[in-house]
Amino acid sequence: MAKQRVAVLISGRGSNMASLIDAAGDDGYPAEIALVVSNRPDAAGLERARSQGIKTAVIDHTQYGKDREAFERALQDMLSAYRIDLVCLAGFMRLLTTWFVGQWQGRMLNIHPALLPAFKGLHTHERALAAGVKTHGATVHFVSPEMDSGPIIARAEVPVLADDTPETLAARVLEAEHRIYPQALRQVAEERARS
Ligand code: GRF
Repeated sequence: MAKQRVAVLISGRGSNMASLIDAAGDDGYPAEIALVVSNRPDAAGLERARSQGIKTAVIDHTQYGKDREAFERALQDMLSAYRIDLVCLAGFMRLLTTWFVGQWQGRMLNIHPALLPAFKGLHTHERALAAGVKTHGATVHFVSPEMDSGPIIARAEVPVLADDTPETLAARVLEAEHRIYPQALRQVAEERARS
C-alpha cells in the first residue's frame, strides 16, 4: 500500500511534529510527512522540519484579518497542491471552521495534553494540578467541529506527583505525547482507526 501523505500543522516549537517526522523515517511506517505548515512565520518547528529535509510552508493568518475562511481556503489549496491524505494538528493554535473540519472528516488528528474529555482547552497542566487529580496524560483524537472533542484514537496516562509544578508535569505528559502520536497516526494510516 502506498504511504499516506501527511501534512503537520504547527504554530510553535514543533516537538510533536518532530516525533512524527522521526517515526515516518522508518521504511515500514505507513505515512510520510509530505509538508509542514505553520500559521506563524516565526514558529521554531519550521527550522526543525527544514533541517530534516521536510517541505515547509507558512500561511500567516494575520494577513487574512478576521476572514477565517479565506485563511482556510489558502490552507486547503496548499494541502490539495501537495496531494495530502491526512492532516495532523500538532500545537496548531487556530480554531478551525466547520467547513474546514468537514473537508477533513475522519482524516484530521489532533493531540491534546490531557486525558479527554477532562480539561479541554488551554492551561491543562495548571488546571489538572488545581483539581488535584492523581492521573493526567495526553489524548490523540479525530478533529470534530467542537474543540477537543471527536472520537478518541489513543490516550496515555501519566502519574501526577506530589511535588509537580505545571512545568514538570508538562514535561512528563510531553514524553507521552511523543510516544502516542506516531502510534495513533500509524493506526489511522493503516485504516485500523476510523472516526
Ligand atoms: C503540546 O503539548 C500539544 O499537546 C498541545 O500543544 C503542545 C505543542 O507542543 N496541543 P509542540 O509544538 O508539539 O512541541
